[in-house]
Amino acid sequence: MKSVPLYLASIVAAGAPAFAQNYTWTNHPSELPYYGQSPPVYPSPQTNGTSSSRWAAAYAKAREILAQLELEEKVNITGGYTGACVGNTGAVPRLGIEPLCFADAPDGIRGSDFVSAFPSQSHLAATWDKDLFLAYGKAIGREYYDKGINVALGPVAGPLGRIAKGGRNWEGLSSDPYLAGWGMYQVTTGMQSSGVIATAKHFLFNEQELRRRPNQTYDPIGEAISANVDDRTAHELYAFPFYDALKAGAACVMCSYQRANNSYACQNSKLLNGILKTEMHFEGFVVSDWEGQHTGIASANAGLDVVMPLGSTYWGANLTQAVNNSSVAVDRLDDMVTRTLAAYYYLEQEDYPDVGVFSDTEEHPIVNVQRDHKKIIREIGAAGHVLVKNVNNTLPLKAPQFVAIYGYDADIKAEPWENVARYGGGYEVNHLWNTFNGTLIVGGGSGGNIPPYVISPFKAIQDQVIEDGGIVRWNFWSEQPHVSATAQVCLVFINAYASESFDRPSLVDEFSDNLVKNVAKNCSNTVVVIHSAGVRLVDPWIDHENVTAVIFAGTPGQESGHSLVDVLYGATSPSGKLHYTVARQESDYGNLLDHTISDEWFPQSDFDEGLYIDYRAFDAKLNVTPRFEFGFGLSYTTFSYANLHIEDLSSADNTSVSAFPDASIPLVQGGHPQLWDTLYNVTAVISNNGTTGASGAEVAQLYLGIPNAPLRQLRGFDKVGPLAPGESATAVFELRRRDLSIWNVVEQQWELQKGSYKLWVGASSRDLRLEGEIVVS
Ligand code: NOJ
Repeated sequence: MKSVPLYLASIVAAGAPAFAQNYTWTNHPSELPYYGQSPPVYPSPQTNGTSSSRWAAAYAKAREILAQLELEEKVNITGGYTGACVGNTGAVPRLGIEPLCFADAPDGIRGSDFVSAFPSQSHLAATWDKDLFLAYGKAIGREYYDKGINVALGPVAGPLGRIAKGGRNWEGLSSDPYLAGWGMYQVTTGMQSSGVIATAKHFLFNEQELRRRPNQTYDPIGEAISANVDDRTAHELYAFPFYDALKAGAACVMCSYQRANNSYACQNSKLLNGILKTEMHFEGFVVSDWEGQHTGIASANAGLDVVMPLGSTYWGANLTQAVNNSSVAVDRLDDMVTRTLAAYYYLEQEDYPDVGVFSDTEEHPIVNVQRDHKKIIREIGAAGHVLVKNVNNTLPLKAPQFVAIYGYDADIKAEPWENVARYGGGYEVNHLWNTFNGTLIVGGGSGGNIPPYVISPFKAIQDQVIEDGGIVRWNFWSEQPHVSATAQVCLVFINAYASESFDRPSLVDEFSDNLVKNVAKNCSNTVVVIHSAGVRLVDPWIDHENVTAVIFAGTPGQESGHSLVDVLYGATSPSGKLHYTVARQESDYGNLLDHTISDEWFPQSDFDEGLYIDYRAFDAKLNVTPRFEFGFGLSYTTFSYANLHIEDLSSADNTSVSAFPDASIPLVQGGHPQLWDTLYNVTAVISNNGTTGASGAEVAQLYLGIPNAPLRQLRGFDKVGPLAPGESATAVFELRRRDLSIWNVVEQQWELQKGSYKLWVGASSRDLRLEGEIVVS
């Protein structure tokens, strides 16, 4: 093993946040020579499908076509045109090459009818269920395929969720890169198994909406924000889940809007040529975010392959000229085209269905792609509900005869039919938007979907009450509703909206908090249900003695009410866990609450906290306890943890293992193949030891104390069950080389750490039940 590099020395930078004083900063951004400037990485790597026989076959076909293309025809494939879809590449009719159709969104097709509205990916992450991640990808992918859409613009691991108020956090999976990574892997696998090209987005560091783009009317004029991120953090946090998407075969990656270390992400050679195309050995193509291209030659040479929505602004005829005068090498153009065609052949899209994307406003044929997806939507919806308070087994409800329902989020507000799309769509800059628009099923912006219908909580609960022979009373709009003394349970529905293009103004709102308090004042059994696109604080009322149960219901999609009733009435025990930290007050998030505000022409956002976001930051701030920690969630039963077993697979003779992957082995898509080797196998036995008689599934979580890294990091999870009372199951965690490594900025490689790794298995990031150790020699 090499000697300990300099960057691992204990550095407590002057001016570092107070909580860092006890902590060893490694590779603090200010230590880096290129902090604030992105290092050049040229030329752009050309690939040839060496990752697998499937990629090789796709490249062979792509090359065959390439050889027949004229210069203008090649250029035509690299740029977008107006067409049926939100993005369309140019065609080459003479060779039967049709335009590729690109469409949003990560949680259901936007811009078309007869499609399903799935839960958001953040809701999916709250299930912590790898099987459901896969099923979600398959079902969504199938709808894209049936609509003839070649390229689906998801899944999302950027934003990761650095700041609590980030407007698009709900589009992505989790602020933990390992959980997000599994989501990326499974959703990509599922989508592409259905035939559509998956797009891992947004690469990289698009962590705030404010000034994400230059010269937007709603932002101060000037260039976009520069996310300044050190190399280690870039790898261990933000790029981490993209490795998983690529490992799963993602054939498209979207570069992001903002600048990264002062260079626009879609012309950033370090990100595209360096991290993505060299280190991760990406074989597919990079598409720009819409209007995210700001130069012609620079973006081409930095590794951009396809520009959307219009090719003609900087490329088109300009690219032809640039190739003719050698500003852009013809090899680079050939590489763009080969990568794009290879992705098409990788997914075997030669016999693809016709594009069936139609706007609601014109008469058109019906292309109904919903199938029976409502079932999986309902299941994922229920599995992503997180129960955080349940006094004396208030829930599940036992067929109460008088159910009172309160709050603007309980039902659909009657609207003209064409506005149904607004349940998810819309870019309204108003976090109370949904206060006036009914129940929240998903956030807004390009990540919003178009529901075929919405099962509101009110509808589903009323149906249940009818079955139980009881009565319902409701008041949706008052902040101080009448509460009947006879009501056996008062269900209060509130929400927190978020959308692309603006960050959230707050994590609470007074109207909703007053509503909860007003109901709780008069109802001794008040159950609060929160639909929220991101963190929602609960401290204004969580300790109120009449608030007997609280559910974070996320953004569950079209079957919202059914999913909720399945949980409320106990058809399924809640099994979701928080995929972010819920603090007691906004200020507890410190610098990670808000976007960076700057009226500079070249605004800067320094990611000074390095690896310390979300629970990593809370764990380091010894004096700030979260209200509900990352990984927390209750069930209708309880679980015991026992028999921690660690098996060392790291070397045949159990003596030593090399610090770095073997340099003689070529890289494949997803990085060095040895990064994915399982070095340790960990198991624990989880038992339903509850006394309520309820069955339930449990998400067992493994946290690792990697030397020279944050205190604890998630490096395994396994959802076991549902387990009947008294029943046990074994949770299995495979620790791969990457999961045990840190990014060595000197060697520019993932490096195993020598010494002792502490290991915990538990029910959350703070409810650690079993403890062990791994020693790497
Ligand atoms: C901009 C968004 O950032 C991106 O996620 C989306 O796919 C495109 N618009 C296309 O709608």
